[in-house]
Amino acid sequence: MGRLVFLFASSLLLMVAATTVSAAILEHSFYAKNLTVTRLCNRQVITAVNDSFPGPSLRVQEGDKLIIHVFNISPFKITIHWRGVSQLMSAWSDGPEMITQCAIRPGNNYTYKYRITKQEGTLFWHAHSSFLRATVHGAIIIHPRARHSYPFPKPYREVPILLGEWWNANVVDVENQALALGIGPNISNAYTINGWPGDLYPCSQNHCVQNCRHT
Ligand SMILES: *[C@@H]1O[C@H](CO)[C@@H](O)[C@H](O)[C@H]1NC(C)=O
Ligand SMILES: *[C@@H]1O[C@H](CO)[C@@H](O)[C@H](O)[C@H]1NC(C)=O
Ligand SMILES: *[C@@H]1O[C@H](CO)[C@@H](O)[C@H](O)[C@H]1NC(C)=O
Ligand SMILES: *[C@@H]1O[C@H](CO)[C@@H](O)[C@H](O)[C@H]1NC(C)=O
Repeated sequence: MGRLVFLFASSLLLMVAATTVSAAILEHSFYAKNLTVTRLCNRQVITAVNDSFPGPSLRVQEGDKLIIHVFNISPFKITIHWRGVSQLMSAWSDGPEMITQCAIRPGNNYTYKYRITKQEGTLFWHAHSSFLRATVHGAIIIHPRARHSYPFPKPYREVPILLGEWWNANVVDVENQALALGIGPNISNAYTINGWPGDLYPCSQNHCVQNCRHT
């Protein structure tokens, strides 16, 4: 009996070890700020995270805790929403502006802290203030825990695909104009895949030099 109890206790310990060993604490910083990009032959100042549009992909394992410091150096107030992440006991890290937090004002910062549990797959994060989500977005890739497999054969390669919309305008102006006029916002000028419209836009008609994609 003593031996059985010992075996039971040690298997419990092993289970505890197995569930905690793979859970890491990942700390990241996001800097939301101006970025000048060229799309559809137009140079446009957008708000983006870490000079990258889309912003950085976060790669985590199920069970990990994320700590993300968001520094708002942009001219607009902003929050970040972790779309699809179940915020268990961490609602204050969910991100919808004026619902779970006040917006982060320009020059300020806010730290999001949450654990990702019982979720796997590719989700995305995006700004949850005004139309800024159009350019402030990126992927969160949640891998299975160590020694847990994918529910499908392991893919040869993984490429996050983020679909979005592009305006040849400051997206905050697009929203403000719609609110001021009481009409729908201007229709976007293009759809984007990973921040890029298609290659077939006729830039030459707009006096754009050769291939706009690389200008
Ligand atoms: C964002 O940029 C900062 C400053 O360059 C860097 O320290 C940080 O690791 C970057 N964050 C991510 C998630 O790549
Ligand atoms: C960022 O861009 C805005 C235009 O959207 C501009 O008014 C502002 O001066 C820029 N800020 C910096 C720090 O360059
Ligand atoms: C972040 O904001 C807090 C106030 O909320 C401030 O005390 C702190 O200095 C800021 N941190 C940095 C690195 O700017
Ligand atoms: C919305 O579209 C109208 C008509 O094309 C244009 O005059 C206006 O400048 C646009 N608004 C913004 C904020 O880009």
